[in-house]
Amino acid sequence: MKSISISRRKFAQLLTVGAAGAVARPALTLARAAATAPSATTPTVVRLSSNENPYGPSVKALKAMTDSFNLAWRYPEEHADLLIESLAKINGVGRDQILLGDGSSEILKLCAETFTGSTANGQNGSGPSPRGNLVVGDPTFEAILQHAAVNGAEVVKVPLTGNSFSHDLPKMAAAAREGLIYICNPNNPTASITSKNELRDFITKTPSQTMILVDEAYFHYADSSDYESVIPLIKDHPNLIVARTFSKVYGMAGLRCGYCVAQKETIERMRPHQSWDSVNIMALAAAIASLDDPEQVANGRRLNGETKAFLASELGELGYKSIPSQANFVMIDVKRPVVPLIQAFKQRNVQVGRLFPALPNHLRLTIGKKAEMEAFLSAFRQVTA
Ligand SMILES: Cc1ncc(COP(=O)(O)O)c(C=O)c1O
Repeated sequence: MKSISISRRKFAQLLTVGAAGAVARPALTLARAAATAPSATTPTVVRLSSNENPYGPSVKALKAMTDSFNLAWRYPEEHADLLIESLAKINGVGRDQILLGDGSSEILKLCAETFTGSTANGQNGSGPSPRGNLVVGDPTFEAILQHAAVNGAEVVKVPLTGNSFSHDLPKMAAAAREGLIYICNPNNPTASITSKNELRDFITKTPSQTMILVDEAYFHYADSSDYESVIPLIKDHPNLIVARTFSKVYGMAGLRCGYCVAQKETIERMRPHQSWDSVNIMALAAAIASLDDPEQVANGRRLNGETKAFLASELGELGYKSIPSQANFVMIDVKRPVVPLIQAFKQRNVQVGRLFPALPNHLRLTIGKKAEMEAFLSAFRQVTA
C-alpha cells in the first residue's frame, strides 16, 4: 500500500475540487439521494439484530461524503493518509502503528491470516503446522473463527466465566499454542467486560510468541470503572493488537471502515495480506469528519444509555433479566429455547439477534430508538405469553 503524506491544506483543496464539481455538474444532494434510495428494509420491519447505531453518522460525516462525491474517481490514498494521521494523534501512537481496514472485519481476517494456521509466526510455505492455533471465548463474535478455520488453524473455544461472563484468561493462556488469542471486550454477544486489571496482567504474562488481539468494537459504550482500553499497553507489547471500528458509535456500518493499532513491526507483518486501498473514499471522508465531531460519541453514549435503562426497567417488570450490558445491545435470559422465539419475532416483523449455541436460552437484542424498543416489548409480551 502506498503511503503519501499530504497537508490539511491540500486535503481542503481536494475537497474543494469535489465540491466545485458538485456545483458545476448538479450532483445528487444527500436529501435527494435519501429520497430516491431504496430503504434497507421495509418500513415496518424493526431491525434489532446487528448492533447498529440507529441514530446514524455525524452530520459532519454526511456533509464530508456529499463534498466527496466528485472525488469518487480517485484512489483513496490521500484520504487514508489523513485518517491515519488523525487516528495516530488520538491514540498517541506513530502513523506506522495504524492499519486501516474495510471494516474491523478485515482487521480480524488479517489477524487470522497472519497469525494462525500454517503461515503463523513466520512459517510461510512450511506446510501444515501444529502451531498457530486460535483461542477464543465462548460465546463470542464468530467471524475470526471462520477465517482461522479456513486458514487451517485449530480453533479452541474456552467458555466465558460462569458468574460474570468474562473471558477466562488463565484457561485461554493454557490453551494457546503460539498463534492468536482473541479477546472481545466488551464481548459480543454477552455485552460483558473482562476487567482491566485481569486483562493487563494477562497481557503482561503472555509470552511474546503468542499474539493477542483485543477487539474494542464497543469501546465507546462501556462506562464501567472496571473497563479500559489496552491501547496504552501496545508500546510495551509487540504481540498486542487492538481493533476498533467506525460501525458502532460512529454509525457507519454500511460504509465499512475500521482500523487496528499495534507496534510497527506487527503492522508490517499484517500488511502484505491486505488488498491495496481496501477502504473506500466515502468511508474515509466520513470517518475523518466523524472524529472532528465530539457530539457524535457523547450523544451516542447518552441515548444508548437512556434507552437501555428504559428496556431493563420494562423487562424487569415482566420478570426477565439480562446480563449487565456495557455495549449497545443486551443479552436477555428468555428462560426457554430462543430459536422458536426468534422465529416468532420475525413473524411480527421484529428482527432480533441470532442463536449463540453456548447460551441457547438467551436473546441478543440491539438497543434501538425508544419507539423500536416499545415495538419489541409489545411483540415480546405476545411471544412469551
Ligand atoms: C465484536 C465485533 N467485532 C467486529 C465487528 C465487525 O464490525 P465491522 O466490520 O463493521 O467494523 C462486529 C460487528 O458486529 C463486532 O460485533
